[in-house]
Amino acid sequence: MAIEVIDDLATWRRALDASRSAGLSVGLVPTMGALHGGHMSLIRRAAAECDVAALTDYVNPLQFGPSEDLGAYPKNLLRDRELAAEAGAQLMLAPSPEQVWPDGEPSTSVRVSGLTDRLEGEARPGHFDGVTTIVCKLLSLSGPCRAYFGEKDYQQLAVVSRMVSDLSLPVQVVGCPTVREVDGLALSSRNAYLSPDERAVASRLYHSLLAGKRLIEEDAVTDPACVEAAIAEHLGAERRFSVDYAAVVDPADFKRPERIGSGEVRLLAAARLGKARLIDNMAATPAAAQQ
Ligand code: PAF
Repeated sequence: MAIEVIDDLATWRRALDASRSAGLSVGLVPTMGALHGGHMSLIRRAAAECDVAALTDYVNPLQFGPSEDLGAYPKNLLRDRELAAEAGAQLMLAPSPEQVWPDGEPSTSVRVSGLTDRLEGEARPGHFDGVTTIVCKLLSLSGPCRAYFGEKDYQQLAVVSRMVSDLSLPVQVVGCPTVREVDGLALSSRNAYLSPDERAVASRLYHSLLAGKRLIEEDAVTDPACVEAAIAEHLGAERRFSVDYAAVVDPADFKRPERIGSGEVRLLAAARLGKARLIDNMAATPAAAQQ
Protein backbone atom coordinates (compact mmCIF):
# COMPACT_ATOMS: atom_id res chain seq x y z
CA MET A 1 0.00 0.00 0.00
CA ALA A 2 1.26 3.52 -0.80
CA ILE A 3 2.34 5.64 2.15
CA GLU A 4 2.37 9.43 2.27
CA VAL A 5 5.27 10.94 4.22
CA ILE A 6 4.56 14.38 5.71
CA ASP A 7 7.09 16.59 7.47
CA ASP A 8 4.93 19.60 8.19
CA LEU A 9 2.73 19.63 11.30
CA ALA A 10 -0.10 21.69 9.78
CA THR A 11 -0.35 19.32 6.78
CA TRP A 12 -0.40 16.35 9.17
CA ARG A 13 -3.23 17.85 11.20
CA ARG A 14 -5.20 18.59 8.00
CA ALA A 15 -4.67 15.07 6.64
CA LEU A 16 -5.98 13.39 9.79
CA ASP A 17 -8.86 15.88 10.16
CA ALA A 18 -9.83 15.14 6.54
CA SER A 19 -9.82 11.39 7.24
CA ARG A 20 -12.12 11.81 10.23
CA SER A 21 -14.39 14.18 8.26
CA ALA A 22 -14.73 11.41 5.67
CA GLY A 23 -15.92 9.12 8.47
CA LEU A 24 -12.67 7.18 8.81
CA SER A 25 -11.20 6.15 12.16
CA VAL A 26 -7.52 6.84 12.86
CA GLY A 27 -4.98 4.52 14.51
CA LEU A 28 -1.76 6.26 15.55
CA VAL A 29 1.60 4.64 16.31
CA PRO A 30 4.12 7.09 17.83
CA THR A 31 7.71 5.91 17.18
CA MET A 32 11.25 7.22 17.14
CA GLY A 33 11.91 5.40 13.85
CA ALA A 34 14.53 2.61 13.50
CA LEU A 35 11.48 0.43 12.97
CA HIS A 36 11.58 -3.27 13.84
CA GLY A 37 9.13 -6.14 14.22
CA GLY A 38 7.73 -4.65 17.43
CA HIS A 39 6.73 -1.41 15.66
CA MET A 40 5.44 -3.44 12.71
CA SER A 41 3.10 -5.35 15.03
CA LEU A 42 1.74 -2.04 16.40
CA ILE A 43 1.18 -0.70 12.87
CA ARG A 44 -0.46 -3.97 11.76
CA ARG A 45 -2.81 -3.81 14.73
CA ALA A 46 -3.64 -0.14 14.02
CA ALA A 47 -4.33 -1.06 10.38
CA ALA A 48 -6.53 -4.00 11.42
CA GLU A 49 -8.57 -1.98 13.92
CA CYS A 50 -8.77 1.45 12.23
CA ASP A 51 -9.51 2.77 8.74
CA VAL A 52 -6.31 4.84 8.59
CA ALA A 53 -3.05 3.66 10.19
CA ALA A 54 -0.66 6.55 10.81
CA LEU A 55 2.74 6.66 12.48
CA THR A 56 5.02 9.38 13.72
CA ASP A 57 8.76 8.91 13.16
CA TYR A 58 10.64 11.44 15.28
CA VAL A 59 13.70 11.01 17.51
CA ASN A 60 12.68 13.20 20.42
CA PRO A 61 15.72 15.00 21.91
CA LEU A 62 13.70 15.98 25.01
CA GLN A 63 13.65 12.40 26.33
CA PHE A 64 17.44 11.85 26.18
CA GLY A 65 19.73 12.81 29.05
CA PRO A 66 22.99 14.69 28.32
CA SER A 67 25.10 11.52 28.52
CA GLU A 68 22.64 9.31 26.63
CA ASP A 69 22.63 8.02 23.03
CA LEU A 70 20.76 10.78 21.15
CA GLY A 71 23.66 11.26 18.68
CA ALA A 72 24.03 7.52 18.07
CA TYR A 73 20.33 6.65 17.88
CA PRO A 74 19.84 4.64 14.64
CA LYS A 75 18.08 6.53 11.81
CA ASN A 76 16.97 5.24 8.40
CA LEU A 77 13.94 7.06 7.09
CA LEU A 78 13.80 5.25 3.74
CA ARG A 79 13.77 1.85 5.40
CA ASP A 80 11.22 3.05 7.98
CA ARG A 81 9.02 4.21 5.14
CA GLU A 82 9.19 0.81 3.43
CA LEU A 83 8.57 -1.18 6.61
CA ALA A 84 5.70 1.08 7.70
CA ALA A 85 4.04 0.75 4.27
CA GLU A 86 4.52 -3.04 4.36
CA ALA A 87 2.78 -3.16 7.75
CA GLY A 88 -0.18 -1.18 6.38
CA ALA A 89 0.51 2.45 7.34
CA GLN A 90 -0.94 5.06 5.03
CA LEU A 91 0.49 8.21 6.64
CA MET A 92 3.81 8.94 8.30
CA LEU A 93 4.86 12.16 10.05
CA ALA A 94 8.64 12.65 9.94
CA PRO A 95 9.43 16.23 10.98
CA SER A 96 12.74 17.84 11.97
CA PRO A 97 13.16 19.24 15.53
CA GLU A 98 12.86 22.74 14.00
CA GLN A 99 9.49 21.81 12.50
CA VAL A 100 8.30 20.39 15.82
CA TRP A 101 9.51 23.38 17.88
CA PRO A 102 9.75 26.38 15.50
CA ASP A 103 10.24 28.72 18.49
CA GLY A 104 13.19 26.68 19.83
CA GLU A 105 13.22 24.57 23.03
CA PRO A 106 9.66 24.49 24.36
CA SER A 107 8.85 26.46 27.51
CA THR A 108 6.09 23.98 28.29
CA SER A 109 6.65 20.60 29.85
CA VAL A 110 4.03 17.95 30.56
CA ARG A 111 4.79 16.04 33.74
CA VAL A 112 3.07 13.02 35.23
CA SER A 113 4.06 12.70 38.89
CA GLY A 114 4.00 9.60 41.07
CA LEU A 115 4.20 6.92 38.40
CA THR A 116 7.46 8.44 37.17
CA ASP A 117 9.22 8.54 40.55
CA ARG A 118 10.92 5.14 40.33
CA LEU A 119 12.64 2.77 37.88
CA GLU A 120 13.09 4.46 34.47
CA GLY A 121 12.13 7.81 36.03
CA GLU A 122 14.87 7.45 38.63
CA ALA A 123 17.49 5.96 36.30
CA ARG A 124 16.86 8.57 33.58
CA PRO A 125 15.98 11.92 35.23
CA GLY A 126 13.74 14.03 32.98
CA HIS A 127 13.14 11.17 30.55
CA PHE A 128 9.41 10.81 31.16
CA ASP A 129 8.84 14.59 31.07
CA GLY A 130 10.39 14.51 27.58
CA VAL A 131 8.19 11.57 26.58
CA THR A 132 4.93 13.04 27.88
CA THR A 133 5.68 16.48 26.42
CA ILE A 134 6.21 15.11 22.89
CA VAL A 135 3.42 12.51 23.11
CA CYS A 136 0.98 15.17 24.33
CA LYS A 137 1.97 17.37 21.38
CA LEU A 138 1.71 14.52 18.85
CA LEU A 139 -1.69 13.44 20.20
CA SER A 140 -2.93 17.01 20.17
CA LEU A 141 -1.82 17.41 16.53
CA SER A 142 -3.28 14.06 15.51
CA GLY A 143 -6.73 14.51 17.08
CA PRO A 144 -9.21 11.81 18.15
CA CYS A 145 -7.71 8.38 17.56
CA ARG A 146 -6.66 5.06 19.02
CA ALA A 147 -2.95 5.28 19.94
CA TYR A 148 -0.86 2.10 20.05
CA PHE A 149 2.07 1.66 22.47
CA GLY A 150 4.16 -1.45 23.17
CA GLU A 151 4.18 -3.14 26.57
CA LYS A 152 7.96 -3.44 26.20
CA ASP A 153 8.10 0.12 27.62
CA TYR A 154 5.63 -0.80 30.33
CA GLN A 155 6.18 2.20 32.59
CA GLN A 156 5.91 4.52 29.57
CA LEU A 157 2.59 2.89 28.66
CA ALA A 158 1.29 3.51 32.21
CA VAL A 159 2.55 7.11 32.27
CA VAL A 160 1.05 7.96 28.85
CA SER A 161 -2.27 6.31 29.80
CA ARG A 162 -2.39 8.40 32.96
CA MET A 163 -1.62 11.61 31.06
CA VAL A 164 -4.37 10.89 28.52
CA SER A 165 -6.84 10.20 31.32
CA ASP A 166 -5.84 13.22 33.45
CA LEU A 167 -6.00 15.62 30.49
CA SER A 168 -9.15 14.01 28.98
CA LEU A 169 -7.45 13.75 25.61
CA PRO A 170 -9.78 12.26 22.96
CA VAL A 171 -7.55 9.23 22.58
CA GLN A 172 -7.92 5.55 23.43
CA VAL A 173 -4.54 4.17 24.46
CA VAL A 174 -4.02 0.56 23.37
CA GLY A 175 -1.20 -1.45 24.99
CA CYS A 176 0.22 -4.22 22.77
CA PRO A 177 2.26 -7.30 23.73
CA THR A 178 6.06 -7.27 23.51
CA VAL A 179 7.48 -8.94 20.40
CA ARG A 180 10.49 -11.18 21.08
CA GLU A 181 13.29 -12.87 19.20
CA VAL A 182 13.18 -16.70 19.32
CA ASP A 183 15.51 -16.75 22.35
CA GLY A 184 13.23 -14.33 24.24
CA LEU A 185 15.11 -11.03 23.76
CA ALA A 186 12.55 -8.23 23.42
CA LEU A 187 12.84 -6.39 20.09
CA SER A 188 14.30 -2.92 20.56
CA SER A 189 16.00 -0.38 18.32
CA ARG A 190 18.84 -0.36 20.87
CA ASN A 191 19.60 -4.06 20.23
CA ALA A 192 21.53 -2.71 17.22
CA TYR A 193 24.26 -1.56 19.66
CA LEU A 194 25.01 -5.16 20.75
CA SER A 195 28.13 -6.92 19.47
CA PRO A 196 27.62 -10.56 18.34
CA ASP A 197 29.07 -11.76 21.68
CA GLU A 198 26.75 -9.48 23.66
CA ARG A 199 23.78 -10.49 21.52
CA ALA A 200 24.52 -14.14 22.37
CA VAL A 201 23.90 -13.46 26.10
CA ALA A 202 21.31 -10.66 25.84
CA SER A 203 18.26 -12.90 26.31
CA ARG A 204 19.44 -13.47 29.89
CA LEU A 205 17.40 -10.38 30.78
CA TYR A 206 14.21 -12.17 29.69
CA HIS A 207 15.23 -15.41 31.39
CA SER A 208 15.96 -13.59 34.68
CA LEU A 209 12.42 -12.21 34.66
CA LEU A 210 11.08 -15.67 33.86
CA ALA A 211 13.00 -17.01 36.90
CA GLY A 212 11.31 -14.33 39.06
CA LYS A 213 7.91 -15.20 37.59
CA ARG A 214 8.44 -18.89 38.46
CA LEU A 215 9.26 -17.98 42.06
CA ILE A 216 5.91 -16.19 42.35
CA GLU A 217 3.72 -18.54 40.34
CA GLU A 218 5.20 -21.95 41.15
CA ASP A 219 7.07 -21.53 44.45
CA ALA A 220 4.49 -19.11 45.94
CA VAL A 221 7.19 -16.67 47.11
CA THR A 222 5.40 -13.64 48.57
CA ASP A 223 8.32 -11.38 49.54
CA PRO A 224 8.98 -8.93 46.67
CA ALA A 225 12.54 -8.22 47.91
CA CYS A 226 13.35 -11.91 47.61
CA VAL A 227 12.08 -12.03 44.00
CA GLU A 228 13.94 -8.81 43.11
CA ALA A 229 17.18 -10.20 44.55
CA ALA A 230 16.74 -13.45 42.61
CA ILE A 231 16.21 -11.59 39.30
CA ALA A 232 19.23 -9.32 39.91
CA GLU A 233 21.39 -12.29 40.90
CA HIS A 234 20.40 -14.34 37.85
CA LEU A 235 21.12 -11.38 35.57
CA GLY A 236 24.36 -10.32 37.29
CA ALA A 237 25.71 -13.88 37.07
CA GLU A 238 26.64 -12.96 33.49
CA ARG A 239 29.37 -10.46 34.31
CA ARG A 240 28.91 -8.39 31.18
CA PHE A 241 25.53 -7.19 32.51
CA SER A 242 25.51 -4.25 34.87
CA VAL A 243 22.11 -4.26 36.58
CA ASP A 244 20.28 -0.91 36.94
CA TYR A 245 17.27 -2.33 38.73
CA ALA A 246 15.14 -5.42 39.19
CA ALA A 247 11.73 -4.60 40.61
CA VAL A 248 8.38 -6.10 41.54
CA VAL A 249 5.61 -3.50 41.33
CA ASP A 250 1.88 -3.14 41.66
CA PRO A 251 0.96 -2.15 38.07
CA ALA A 252 -1.57 0.38 39.40
CA ASP A 253 0.97 2.69 41.04
CA PHE A 254 4.42 1.25 40.24
CA LYS A 255 5.14 0.92 43.97
CA ARG A 256 6.59 -2.22 45.48
CA PRO A 257 3.77 -4.16 47.20
CA GLU A 258 4.44 -5.05 50.84
CA ARG A 259 3.65 -8.62 49.98
CA ILE A 260 2.87 -10.46 46.77
CA GLY A 261 -0.69 -11.48 47.55
CA SER A 262 -3.80 -12.02 45.52
CA GLY A 263 -3.30 -9.76 42.52
CA GLU A 264 -1.10 -9.65 39.45
CA VAL A 265 2.26 -7.92 39.82
CA ARG A 266 4.71 -6.70 37.18
CA LEU A 267 8.37 -7.65 37.14
CA LEU A 268 10.67 -5.10 35.51
CA ALA A 269 14.42 -5.01 34.98
CA ALA A 270 16.97 -2.76 33.30
CA ALA A 271 20.63 -3.47 32.68
CA ARG A 272 23.54 -2.27 30.63
CA LEU A 273 25.25 -4.66 28.26
CA GLY A 274 28.14 -3.09 26.37
CA LYS A 275 26.85 0.11 24.73
CA ALA A 276 23.20 -0.91 25.07
CA ARG A 277 20.84 -0.28 27.95
CA LEU A 278 18.17 -2.96 27.81
CA ILE A 279 14.80 -3.01 29.60
CA ASP A 280 12.16 -5.69 29.81
CA ASN A 281 9.15 -6.69 31.92
CA MET A 282 6.52 -9.37 32.38
CA ALA A 283 3.38 -10.05 34.41
CA ALA A 284 3.28 -12.58 37.25
CA THR A 285 0.11 -13.90 38.85
CA PRO A 286 0.57 -15.36 42.34
CA ALA A 287 -0.58 -18.95 42.77
CA ALA A 288 -3.36 -17.78 45.15
CA ALA A 289 -4.87 -15.58 42.40
CA GLN A 290 -4.76 -18.30 39.75
CA GLN A 291 -7.57 -20.47 41.18
O1 PAF B 1 8.53 4.63 22.71
C1 PAF B 1 9.04 5.48 21.95
O2 PAF B 1 9.54 5.18 20.86
C2 PAF B 1 9.07 6.94 22.38
O3 PAF B 1 9.28 7.06 23.75
C3 PAF B 1 7.82 7.72 21.92
C4 PAF B 1 6.56 7.19 22.60
C5 PAF B 1 7.65 7.63 20.42
C6 PAF B 1 7.95 9.20 22.30
O4 PAF B 1 9.06 9.77 21.67
